[in-house]
Amino acid sequence: MATQDLSFRTGAQVESSPFNTLEWRPASGEQPEALLLLDQLLLPHKIVMIACPDYQAVGRAISTMQVRGAPALGVAGAYGMALAARKSGAATPQELLAELALAGKHLFETRPTAVNLGWAINRSQQLAGRLAAEGRSVPEIGDALLDLAQQIHAEDIKINRRMGAFGAEVVPEGGNVLTHCNTGSLATAGFGTALGVIRAAHEAGKKIHVWVGETRPYLQGARLTAWELQQLNIPYTLITDNMAGHLMQRGRVQFVITGADRIAANGDTANKIGTYSLAVLAQAHNIPFYIAAPLSTVDLTIPDGSYIPIEERNVAEVTTFGGVRIAPEGAHALHPAFDVTPSRLIAGIITERGIARPPFESSIKALFEVEEA
Ligand code: MRU
Repeated sequence: MATQDLSFRTGAQVESSPFNTLEWRPASGEQPEALLLLDQLLLPHKIVMIACPDYQAVGRAISTMQVRGAPALGVAGAYGMALAARKSGAATPQELLAELALAGKHLFETRPTAVNLGWAINRSQQLAGRLAAEGRSVPEIGDALLDLAQQIHAEDIKINRRMGAFGAEVVPEGGNVLTHCNTGSLATAGFGTALGVIRAAHEAGKKIHVWVGETRPYLQGARLTAWELQQLNIPYTLITDNMAGHLMQRGRVQFVITGADRIAANGDTANKIGTYSLAVLAQAHNIPFYIAAPLSTVDLTIPDGSYIPIEERNVAEVTTFGGVRIAPEGAHALHPAFDVTPSRLIAGIITERGIARPPFESSIKALFEVEEA
């Protein structure tokens, strides 16, 4: 995977963000076409874009978390499928479909909890299947998959803005809002989900202050959310994850909002490890706990959260801190990357089509039936 230091770049940026999380680079001269990704492992210290010229490179960037966040994974997955088609040596559309099935499986297995990845891969495969049935050629299918990836990319930003508009209404004026992990422009194609709601509330003139949970072990809060809020001039204070209960007990949190990686049909929600503990604490202190996620994060094929696969990551991410070993050599450790918050702890799920409220089975279903504006 090629890397490029882009700290000097002045290229076109998406309207919602001072930086691009993902960018499509067309082929030019010697340079092959590629998906460019802002390397999130290096933030906030270095702004470096990595170039992924094939789907295997996209898969590696997803596994190592150079790109992360459920909606951003969906967009990366769609570009990965486009690259798989465009780099394919398939002689026939049928051969291409078989290659895409393998590429899709490979990409999906990199992060099994975030359903947006599977959602985007399925959309690409369905489109390729339809076009093959219509007798389109391999290069035509490759072009169509790139168009689809670009469409998913652009749609995600619009969806986040709509979610922000709905969500800003429920953020309390003058409140202290607690959030977890990173759900901003970096976790999406731009603007963000839960952080997008916070941003929309701030843009609407609500005087809010954000408690940012550091989010062990990957420190998405400390490294990424703090960085984004700083650029947006939204007042925030960084805390370690174990400080949340104390702050709630002292009346210093009025609202909790997080993103989601997969939402079951009954509203049970998988999100970054530590989210469940926050929801339990919020309920104990009578603080509203909200989720913000696009409908592509909802998995209607599973009735409840017990069906959500929880990604287990390398324990080295727990025994080390910022790459430095903190536990003794040979220490036993565990690293479930997500947990499931039961829907009974959730006050509302903010989506691009409105806010679902309990009972979630019916309210989520109703949102899927709402006509697009
Ligand atoms: O492991 P990560 O960093 O990909 O986890 C991200 C989260 O848990 C986010 O809250 C979720 O993907 C929603 S992002 C808008």
